[in-house]
Amino acid sequence: TGRHLLKFKGYYFKRVGLDVDFLENLDDFEIRDDDVFIITYPKSGTIWSQQLLSLIYFEEHGKRTENLETVDPVPFLDARPSHLFSTHLPHYLVPRGLKNKKAKVIYIYRNPKDVMCLYFHFSHKWAENEAKTTIEEFMELFLEGKVTGSLWFDHIKSWYEHRSHFNIHFMMYEDMKKDLINSVLKVCRFLGKELNEEVLDAVVRQATFQNMKYDPLANYESILNSQPEGKRKEGPFLRKGTIGDWKNHMTVEQNERFDKIFQIKMKDFPLEFIWD
Ligand code: PPS
Repeated sequence: TGRHLLKFKGYYFKRVGLDVDFLENLDDFEIRDDDVFIITYPKSGTIWSQQLLSLIYFEEHGKRTENLETVDPVPFLDARPSHLFSTHLPHYLVPRGLKNKKAKVIYIYRNPKDVMCLYFHFSHKWAENEAKTTIEEFMELFLEGKVTGSLWFDHIKSWYEHRSHFNIHFMMYEDMKKDLINSVLKVCRFLGKELNEEVLDAVVRQATFQNMKYDPLANYESILNSQPEGKRKEGPFLRKGTIGDWKNHMTVEQNERFDKIFQIKMKDFPLEFIWD
């Protein structure tokens, strides 16, 4: 395990396709006031929030962004007039301009047991993730932070602790799941966007799981299809999109061990999580 990872400034990236020069110069990357950054730990609702944002910006003009596909570490969603970016980077690696509160940052998070379990599925789906582990083994890697994105606990805690340096809005996957309209309204308020009812309806309708599941642009199909023959795994990127799927994967002992570590690591952390 671990050969598919590359550590840069204390943070694990996927080795394949990583542009280290780009990372080295990222601090100076030009940030504009109307840029919007989606920040996630992997598997926490990245593609869903990308879809939402591009719909919010484009639905009012009657067209959606043509390119929703993303590449690490700072995928560009070419959506004008605003520039929408999405990344898994930790707070200390993002461009300096963001810390000067230029641009807006939306941090999406999801309960870490679900994140861990769907990350496990995902690691079996992509050829480049060579670590073919059991869930038991994967949980250890996840809890040690030896996965792309490093340690989940560090990611969310440090973004939260540094929130005052950013113009940032926190949004929970489970809230989106339970009440998408409300989440969209909140995000629109944060973005300073007012959608009329018709547009709001259209955004929410097009961002449902059912709709996105069959949309090739929302399923990284071209990337999946570009994997070597024989190593390619079947099945869409959007798998279940539910809350609490971890219960179908973790044993009682694994769950207890996870809880114990969670309680230590997340002691005094004020954001709440929804587990089922
Ligand atoms: S990645 O690889 O980090 O970009 O993955 P990410 O997009 O963050 O997470 C993938 C999971 O998000 C689910 N998803 C959705 N859930 C509900 N509704 C909608 N519209 C939606 N779109 C994406 C996706 O299904 C993955 O979760 P699972 O549970 O594996 O299906």
